[in-house]
Amino acid sequence: MNTSCIIRGMGHCVPETRLTNADFERMVDTNNEWIITRTGIRERHVALKGETCVDLCLGASQKALENAGMAASELTHVLVATFSADSVIPSAACMLSHRLGIAGRMAMDLSAACSGFLYAMETARALIVLHPEAKILVACGDIVSSRVDYTDRSTCVLFGDGAGAVVMTADAPGLSGGRVQDVLVAADGAMGDLLTVKGGGSGTPYKLGETIRHDFFVEMNGREVYKHAVRAMSGVCQDIMTRHGLTRDDVDVFIPHQANLRIVEAVGKRLSMPEEKVFTNLQKYGNTSAASVPLALSEAVADGFIKPGNLVLLGTFGGGFTWGSALVRF
Ligand code: ACO
Repeated sequence: MNTSCIIRGMGHCVPETRLTNADFERMVDTNNEWIITRTGIRERHVALKGETCVDLCLGASQKALENAGMAASELTHVLVATFSADSVIPSAACMLSHRLGIAGRMAMDLSAACSGFLYAMETARALIVLHPEAKILVACGDIVSSRVDYTDRSTCVLFGDGAGAVVMTADAPGLSGGRVQDVLVAADGAMGDLLTVKGGGSGTPYKLGETIRHDFFVEMNGREVYKHAVRAMSGVCQDIMTRHGLTRDDVDVFIPHQANLRIVEAVGKRLSMPEEKVFTNLQKYGNTSAASVPLALSEAVADGFIKPGNLVLLGTFGGGFTWGSALVRF
């Protein structure tokens, strides 16, 4: 599909409270050195003050709308990518629309774990082809801390909470923003059991009065996830470059899923991507699931890491498994 979509504005939002590696040293049998060496993460923001997925998505969306110079009333569609919506029903998208003061638009959640942003972008691109006048809010937020077992040292140090949002429309002369050149997304359910949050789903229901079990929280085979993440993310990033006849020299900035620094470095190495082109903020936020890439994109633009004219390569990998890549020209 030859797209002509543009990201008109973006924003991000994280909870106030931070958990540092020193805090984890007091909570579980771990230490700063182990966490830094294995993950690169120094701190993460967590919703200890009761912030919800919709609260963070609202914060990010308001900034994205302001950045786009648009009012919420102009939006035609609201998409939310999350695995940790405030409730099963109503959806986060319905709640977010209401909090933005709008009604009568399509509002839909979608779930692709850490690849949620690219899945939502691809959905928005298709909607824009159907409805060229569409002004679509794509908000991605996760309160991963609500599904993390803070007694399990092998998972709890990895994750943080956050949200990132973009406003997408059809491209037109005179508009400024990030022109979406292409999006590539994929999935393979065969490996789904390597990374799960099962408890509370209809396959693993809880009955009234039952105590929650380990399956309520993120469970994963870290080593296997690591291998697949590196392979799939580097593969899909290479594929999208090949599809457009590009090499790493054509890419100005690479923003991979902010899972952990070792994954990022291994993917960068496979793509022969110079380190100085790779943007990371996982040191401050940990792995924020669906929020990871839009939060990084928003920060990279705000910090001036991404400059006008830059070609940006995005890459994701998440539970499911799901993975994806995108090319955006700023
Ligand atoms: N502090 C100290 N020791 C720990 C900790 C901790 N927080 N967690 C685990 N360990 C111990 C283990 O118990 C193990 O001890 P043992 O040898 O006595 O059994 C030892 O450290 C090594 O454990 P491994 O799991 O082999 O450590 P590894 O080098 O594989 O690193 C990690 C673990 C960081 C989880 C790595 O496998 C990884 O990065 N996996 C990817 C997982 C990921 O990022 N998932 C996020 C979701 S998916 C996504 O977003 C891509």
